[in-house]
Amino acid sequence: MRIDIITCLPNLFEGPLTQSIVRRSMDKGLVQLEIHNLRDYADNKHKHVDDYAFGGGAGMVLMLKPIDKCIADLKSKRTYDEVIYLTPDGTTYNQSIANQFSLKKNLILLCGHYKGVDQRVREHLVTKEISIGDYVLSGGELAAMVLADSLIRLVPGVLNDETSALSDSFQNNLLAPPVYTRPSEYKGWKVPEVLTSGHGVKIEAWKNEQALRRTEERRPDLLE
Ligand code: ADE
Repeated sequence: MRIDIITCLPNLFEGPLTQSIVRRSMDKGLVQLEIHNLRDYADNKHKHVDDYAFGGGAGMVLMLKPIDKCIADLKSKRTYDEVIYLTPDGTTYNQSIANQFSLKKNLILLCGHYKGVDQRVREHLVTKEISIGDYVLSGGELAAMVLADSLIRLVPGVLNDETSALSDSFQNNLLAPPVYTRPSEYKGWKVPEVLTSGHGVKIEAWKNEQALRRTEERRPDLLE
């Protein structure tokens, strides 16, 4: 999978996407992640990529031209499955959307800033609009990182145990059951006996029951 992220704040991506699972997926050659600085596509000497909104109102708007040039440059090199714009008024992201995107080969993630992007970008260049929740971030960068992280871990071979993404919360619309590790008893706090019984069928049944109970208690909406 290849993910190209377009942003006017490329430095923000240095931390989270250069560690741990994401780093290893890139080292293994399973994922390619490229960050593109929108300012490289500005056509003025001050490298401005934003301007005042027509009709007035507070806040700057990201200009159409540098975004179009950057996307055209990427599209001249390969075909993209989706151009995803991160915006609080997009479709709310969830695991089912993550699963669908994880099957794609090439994705562009476009980060908005200030008051967002010129509407013509959304009408003519963007194919999907995604929000990571009903709150407003200062820009789309953190949202793009959330998407990239959630997608990369679903790429086959990225997680050591291939089944472990399948047992995540929200797969099958259920929250994950509780987990325990050694010691099996500490200060009198015990691990449920079934988990140390070695009885595979009973352990599976227990996990399913716990997942269902947790979902009923915490997120009944997932069961509707
Ligand atoms: N940009 C600003 N807020 C956002 C959100 N909640 N989701 C996606 N992109 C955003």
